[in-house]
Amino acid sequence: MSFTSRILDFFKRKSTVSLGGGEKAISKQKAGGKMTARERIAALLDEGSFHEYDLFVEHKCQDFGMADKELAADGVVTGSGTIGGRPVCIYAQDFTVAGGSLGLMHARKITKVMDHAIKMGVPIIGINDSGGARIQEGVNSLAGYGEIFYRNTLASGVVPQISVILGPCAGGAVYSPALTDFVFVVDNISKMFITGPEVVKTVLGEEISMEDLGGARVQAETAGNAHFFANSELECFAQIRKLVGYLPNNSRAKAAMIEAKTPKASYKIENLIPKDSKIPFDVRDIVRSLADDSEFFEVQELFAPNAIIGFARINGETVGIVGNQALFLAGVLDIDASDKIARFIRFCDAFSIPLVTLVDIPGYLPGSDQEHNGVIRHGAKVLYAYSEATVPKITVILRKAYGGGYIAMCSHHLRADFVFAWPTAEIAVMGPEGAANIIFRSEIMAAANPEEMRKLKVQEYTDKFANPYVAASSGYVDAVIAPEETRTYLVHALQLARTKEESRPDRKHGVPPF
Ligand code: HXC
Repeated sequence: MSFTSRILDFFKRKSTVSLGGGEKAISKQKAGGKMTARERIAALLDEGSFHEYDLFVEHKCQDFGMADKELAADGVVTGSGTIGGRPVCIYAQDFTVAGGSLGLMHARKITKVMDHAIKMGVPIIGINDSGGARIQEGVNSLAGYGEIFYRNTLASGVVPQISVILGPCAGGAVYSPALTDFVFVVDNISKMFITGPEVVKTVLGEEISMEDLGGARVQAETAGNAHFFANSELECFAQIRKLVGYLPNNSRAKAAMIEAKTPKASYKIENLIPKDSKIPFDVRDIVRSLADDSEFFEVQELFAPNAIIGFARINGETVGIVGNQALFLAGVLDIDASDKIARFIRFCDAFSIPLVTLVDIPGYLPGSDQEHNGVIRHGAKVLYAYSEATVPKITVILRKAYGGGYIAMCSHHLRADFVFAWPTAEIAVMGPEGAANIIFRSEIMAAANPEEMRKLKVQEYTDKFANPYVAASSGYVDAVIAPEETRTYLVHALQLARTKEESRPDRKHGVPPF
């Protein structure tokens, strides 16, 4: 073959393989409102930055009529590119090729690009759109999944791992996303479940649609497996690009500092706090009043809304925000909120992102439902995660900090570096009403007017404990500050903590309650 014909041959091969499963399958993909694997990568990465690897990998299966079957790129596109100028490794399953099913070589392509990401120290993004284990390849497909799960675990806490569910993701395949740090779903497109509707019907006799079983909303709102919900693939890619901007490339690096911006005037903190201390406020507004440009990038917004987690920048530095949201369930910690908070703390700690905790919590949620489903072991995760974290930890007590909630929400006792409290803070074992009813029960019952006496005792308890000064007198609060001073205190504390060093006892690893 001459030089020219070799070049022409290369371009022909490349364009054939790049077409994936062919025009018919692509039309079906589009009719389902889905982009193709290559379109997705192009839309997500910086324009023209994608470099593809292993385009000519072929499957090796000889069984069930597979010997002569050509599967373009073996149903997965892999490579690297940039987001906002920063390198990332990426793979996207191509549903137009054998339903994006995962065979041995398909899996090897994925694990190869994951190995790259770990070695190079860059985030790995996986776009999942697949019918699961390639049935014809039998145990080789299962081996492929096992290798992926293993690498997900190796990569955990080393490089950020992002999963995007843009089609079916069924059976054990869901466990790769579950092992990663952030899962993105798109309405009407994403489906995640261990067993599909047919199995549910056979085993349980229950009729349920795929959407109701494991659609995007279910995953983002109810199950909590998804961290970000979008209405379209393009919206989802914009979310991913934003997330990557907040993160460092790996655990040895720090997130990039960008130019500091003051919060927007419309989020003036003094105007956000209700005069009546019983009226709840949206804690996200407090975050916006403290954050650069009032930007708060919320994670798991739809799941366990009684707690908030997310990223913001303060003085140009990425911080992880954790807060109680009094608008829902009065901001209590329950099973779901505990899981949500604990995992986020561990992510931030692994990637050197300082934690800012905003406290307004009446305690853990009581009741048999919570007790029977394990609020003790789930709640313990928060204690563990905060105690274990050695990144800078700054706590601001806004209002209530009662009981276990006070301790759990990054108190000094769990090694917060700084605890600030507003004058409105109430730091006590429990709320004044409950406390007075218990400790003054006999006095109240013996009184000529028990109701009057109860009010008196509630007031007595409030005057004594429902403030920040008792805690401040023991040094459990470092400074009682006016709300409008909060950002200045945070900026200074973060600046001071930039050179923080703290370690924990040497060990193989701890045994957290999960
Ligand atoms: C081989 C598969 C496949 C699979 C789909 N295809 N799934 N090929 N192995 N797992 C092929 C189809 O045969 C078809 O090929 C093409 O992909 C498109 O599939 P359709 O069924 O036409 O698409 P659609 O109607 O959109 O349905 C999508 C689907 C369905 C819901 C995902 O294909 C399906 O139920 N697939 C099987 C899912 C499954 O049970 N997977 C195994 C799970 S167990 P042609 O040639 O006709 O275009 C598992 C274990 C993992 O994954 C364990 C890890 C620990």
